[in-house]
Amino acid sequence: MNYSLLTSTDPSTIKSDCLVIAIFANKKLSNAAIQLDATTDGLISKFLSISDFSGNCNQSQLLYADSGTLCSRILLIGCGTENNFDQKTACRVTSKASKEIAKTSAKHATFFLLDTLAERIICEQSMRQSVLTFADSIYRFDKYKSEKKNSPKIEHICMAFTTEPPCDVATMLKQGKAIAKGMHLSRDLANQPGNVCTPNFIAETAQSLGRQYDAVSVDILEEHDMEALGMGSFLSVSKGSAQPGKMVIMQYNGADKSNRPIALVGKGVTFDTGGISLKPGANMDEMKFDMCGAASVMGAFNACVEMQLPLNIVAVLATAENMPSSQATKPGDIITSMSGKTIEVLNTDAEGRLVLCDALTYVGRYNPEVVIDTATLTGACVVALGHHICAVLSNNDQLARDLMDAGSEINDRTWQLPMSEEYTKQLKSSFADLGNIGGPAAGTITAACFLGKFTEEYKWAHIDIAGTAWKGKDATGRPVPLLSQYLINKAYS
Ligand code: BES
Ligand code: MN
Ligand code: ZN
Repeated sequence: MNYSLLTSTDPSTIKSDCLVIAIFANKKLSNAAIQLDATTDGLISKFLSISDFSGNCNQSQLLYADSGTLCSRILLIGCGTENNFDQKTACRVTSKASKEIAKTSAKHATFFLLDTLAERIICEQSMRQSVLTFADSIYRFDKYKSEKKNSPKIEHICMAFTTEPPCDVATMLKQGKAIAKGMHLSRDLANQPGNVCTPNFIAETAQSLGRQYDAVSVDILEEHDMEALGMGSFLSVSKGSAQPGKMVIMQYNGADKSNRPIALVGKGVTFDTGGISLKPGANMDEMKFDMCGAASVMGAFNACVEMQLPLNIVAVLATAENMPSSQATKPGDIITSMSGKTIEVLNTDAEGRLVLCDALTYVGRYNPEVVIDTATLTGACVVALGHHICAVLSNNDQLARDLMDAGSEINDRTWQLPMSEEYTKQLKSSFADLGNIGGPAAGTITAACFLGKFTEEYKWAHIDIAGTAWKGKDATGRPVPLLSQYLINKAYS
């Protein structure tokens, strides 16, 4: 997908397969519509005068012009009351326009929808959000379908303005493209079935990023390396599977070496059967998405590299398959983590925290400024917040606030849940330093408290994406936008 930008342009001079033109409520013509109407002998105003098209939000009509323009298709989009046009409306109408374009054979489309935005911040955010909305509306995962039905033909989008916009649209377009690319990578990885997307597949995907960018280096810890490091907790999960577990370390150097890196850690369980504490069969296929934390870390990492942010980033993907077998960990088994803490595995289905705790200990050696992990960690998070909002838990309130602010800024919403000693006490074990489950109450919080036992040395936040990482049977790419925005803010404030 290609994106480009045109400012101070007359739509009648543009060569494209489709011009997308805004009409406001009460049949009010936008600037672009007025200009195009003039060169097409009143095509738009004539249509409006004889039709029911009022310009209400999300109305659409495709017109064909045979003269006065270099494009035969003109897609009118109702944008509602002009004064109410904001970022949210921009997304709604962009999504509508994208769907209408996908029904045509247009390969190149030019959008004149953000022309009237006079306010800088609204203009910038609408620009970037429009790119993300567009990318989302044309995304399909149809690799395994013999017939690629309704796959859009569109290859190029131009964001166009009749005037000079009141904001830095070029930077916003660049950010939108980079984040869209990261989300695409994240979704493609997550949507792959578990028999394809194994820990090895994730490692190879990371290595291909390393080859693509000079500023990126990738190291893989194999099981024997992890044994040498004493990662008994991670290995207690991977050992039940024929697929070897991997710890994938990706580094991006965009700033001076003396700057402490920001660490991102992702849960990459490529399939979670529950292990010996086997999950019930219904919807178990969705546990291929249990690597969405790792996928989102890789996506956000890719976005930051594309944006060339002046930051150092270290990303760690803890990737393994959770299977029942004669080699698998059993309830009651006691293991020793890299930190030296012993863990009684009371439920082998609470495996995410077991792979993450060793990754979190390991990442400490990079002396990170902050550490953020993302994980599809608890079913309890889906109960608490549903499918719209990610949970944030942290040992540092400022960090939690920065993440929540970043999420609001880019429409990737979060809500903070508390952490405190009483909850940590629920993790007591009769035989080891701690158990891996905290009972039925406050499952998302006790899971975070478990991780908190391994993150005392640095500022850390955990994002539980169990409810938001996929929708129906499709990965969402969240929280790539949130992580990217947080890193953008970190880089430029
Ligand atoms: N991957 C699951 C969490 C999950 C469940 C995410 C459903 C998305 C949808 C995780 O490994 C898990 O199984 N957690 C257990 C923990 C419990 C045994 C303490 C859970 O949530 O049931
Ligand atoms: Mn599990
Ligand atoms: Zn899991």
